[in-house]
Order: sequence, then structure tokens, then C-alpha cells
Amino acid sequence: MQTGPELAVVVPTFNEAANVGQLVALLGRALAGIEWELIVVDDDSPDGTAGLMRELARENPRLRCLQRLGRRGLSSACIEGMLATAAPYIAVMDGDLQHDERLLPRMLELLRKEALDIVVGSRYVSGGGSAGLDETRAGMSRFATRLSRPLIPDGLQDPMSGFFMLRREVFEATVRRLSGIGFKILLDIFASAPQPLRFRELPYEFRSRGAGESKLDSQAMWDYGMLLLDKLVGRWVPARFVSFLLVGSVGVLVHMSVLAVLLNLAGQSFLFSQATATIVAMTSNFVLNNLITYRDLRLRGWALLRGWLSFVLACSIGAVANVGVANYLFEQRTGWALAGLAGILVGAVWNYVVTLVYTWRGAAR
Ligand code: GDD
Ligand code: MN
Repeated sequence: MQTGPELAVVVPTFNEAANVGQLVALLGRALAGIEWELIVVDDDSPDGTAGLMRELARENPRLRCLQRLGRRGLSSACIEGMLATAAPYIAVMDGDLQHDERLLPRMLELLRKEALDIVVGSRYVSGGGSAGLDETRAGMSRFATRLSRPLIPDGLQDPMSGFFMLRREVFEATVRRLSGIGFKILLDIFASAPQPLRFRELPYEFRSRGAGESKLDSQAMWDYGMLLLDKLVGRWVPARFVSFLLVGSVGVLVHMSVLAVLLNLAGQSFLFSQATATIVAMTSNFVLNNLITYRDLRLRGWALLRGWLSFVLACSIGAVANVGVANYLFEQRTGWALAGLAGILVGAVWNYVVTLVYTWRGAAR
């Protein structure tokens, strides 16, 4: 009887064309005797990773490529890759040869034989290491790990690992609760699982990267903060909304600076200065939100112009709602400060929801 794969290896990629060929060869060697499949989830890499994977797949039925358009994100890529397989065991690993594929058979063996939900490839248990990480990165990784403590089980040494294997039931029970923000899919899984996960860590040596460079940048740190925030308060307030509010507060500073300069230094009329400050602040809010809040859905090219127009339009209506609500409350003899704040809140929620749906075409959750 022919059976489907027992193990799916999910690999997120962005510009890994120079590495995936070797990865496939290494997996073939490491997984001899196992029914496996590889699902590469590529975010339309400019270096043609997806096309190359399809070429390799024509000669190897174990390979598949899921190519996403107009999207970015390591965690969300892993989630979609895991959703695309029927295999009872699912591994996640990087596509740049930093994770030791020779660990996979032992991970599988443990999950088959023992009462475990997830096996984690760990740099920090004895026998493991991260020679492939420079001192700054290692320090940052330790700091990030400390921040995650409230969200993960005691004893888990490497919650930042991007290398692990789990049972599909565990994934299925967890998938709807995942944040899917940023880089830390393993942390997301541990923090989102409905029950504490039974885990084991296996040491491995984090190798240095194959070709190309890391995509972990300062933005990834922001995303990490958003992930923690979403796990801590996301039940009540979406992390994106918090990001939107932070950008909005920067907008207030921008607005006041432009107003001050035009009015006091350039000697313009108040009406002109205030109107210009409004447009400038709206534009800077749009740009910052596009860069940070909606990094995963970032608009580019002509879509940027359409996005800006819809953003300005939505925020103008938001301003009318803001003033309307504040004025109504003020007339009801709510104090001026409370009335003003209520107006701001109504305007902010309106702006957030409308631009989420119409400017960035995101889905409200
Ligand atoms: N689909 C997709 N989309 N893949 C991505 C994206 C993206 O936006 N960004 C990065 N990747 C892929 C890379 O191509 C690579 O295969 C893998 O995700 C890891 O990215 P790197 O840029 O190599 O990250 P790193 O080496 O700095 O950090 C990795 O290793 C750490 C230690 O295990 C990540 O896996 C971290 O999460 C992990 O902590
Ligand atoms: Mn890497």
C-alpha cells in the first residue's frame, strides 16, 4: 500500500536560491528510510528561489514550493507551510543550512516513541552551541529569551529556536491562536498552545550561514516586541492597533513641529500652517505605518499612491467623527478633556479599522 509522507519539513525562504539545492541533498541523505516531503514557503524572492524549487521538484516528488505574493514574514510562512501538509509529524527549519538536518531522524524517533508534543533543536542545552552566531547576536538572543520567560514553560532553554518538530494534532489545536507575527514561530507555538506542551530539547551546533545574508534586522526586533505584546494583551487589544497608536503619537509630534516652524519661523497664516501640518503628519503616519505596522502587507510602487489617497480620505472622515463625538460629549457637559480624549479614541479606532481593511487590505481578527 502506498502511504503519504510521515514527516513534512517546512522551510521558509527569502532569497535562498544559493542554498536550497544543497539543503535538498542534505535532507535526502539525512532522511533515508523515512517517508518525507519538503515544503518550501517562499515570499516571492527576487533571486528566484521559488522557480528553482519547482525545477528541482520536477525531478523529485518529495519537493513542493508554496510561493506567496505580496506577503512577508517568517512565522506566517511557516504556518501556511504546516497547513499545507497532511503528514502526522511536521518539522520547521531554516533554508540557509544553519540548522543541523542530521537531528531530524532523532526528533522523529522521540515523537514516535515517547509521550512528547514537540522536540526542539537547541543551542543552549549541553552539547549545543552557536558558533554560527557572533557575540552581538548571541547577546541579543539571550536578552530576547529573558523577555519571553512569562510566556514559555520553565526549563525551555532555547525558545528562540527556529528548528523543531511537532505532532500535527498539536499544531492543529494551536494554529487558530497563533499570532503569526515576525520571526519567532516556536515561541508563538509555546505561548499559544491551549495546554502546556510536553517538550524535549536536543542539542545541536548552530552552523554559520550558507550563501547570502540574514534577514533579521532592527525591524525583526520591533516585530518581536509586537509578538510579546500580542501574546500578553492581544486578547483585548490587537498588537497592530498598539503599533498604529504609537505611530499616531509620532504623528502628533510631526504635526506640532511643522505647525511651529511654518507659523513662527516662516511667518505663515495659522490656517495655512495647520492645514500643511495636517497633510504632512498624515503622510508621515502613512509612511511609518506602511513600514512598521503593515510590514507584512507593505505597499509598493503605484499601490503606494492609491494607499496614500485612501489613507488620507479615511483619516479625514476619522477627523470629522472625532470632532463630532467630542463636540456632542462636550455639549452633554462631559468635561473638555474627557470629551477631547473620547473624540481622539473614536477617530483612532475608525482610522485603524478603515485603513486596515481598505488601505492595506488586511483582515480584522
Ligand atoms: N518566507 C519567508 N519570508 N522566509 C523568510 C523571511 C520572510 O519574510 N525572512 C527570512 N526567511 C527565511 C530565510 O530565508 C531563512 O531560511 C530562515 O527564514 C531564517 O532566516 P535568517 O535570515 O537566516 O534568520 P537568522 O539566521 O538570523 O535566524 C534564524 O535562526 C535563529 C536561531 O535558530 C531564525 O530561524 C530565528 O528565528 C532563529 O532564532
Ligand atoms: Mn539564518
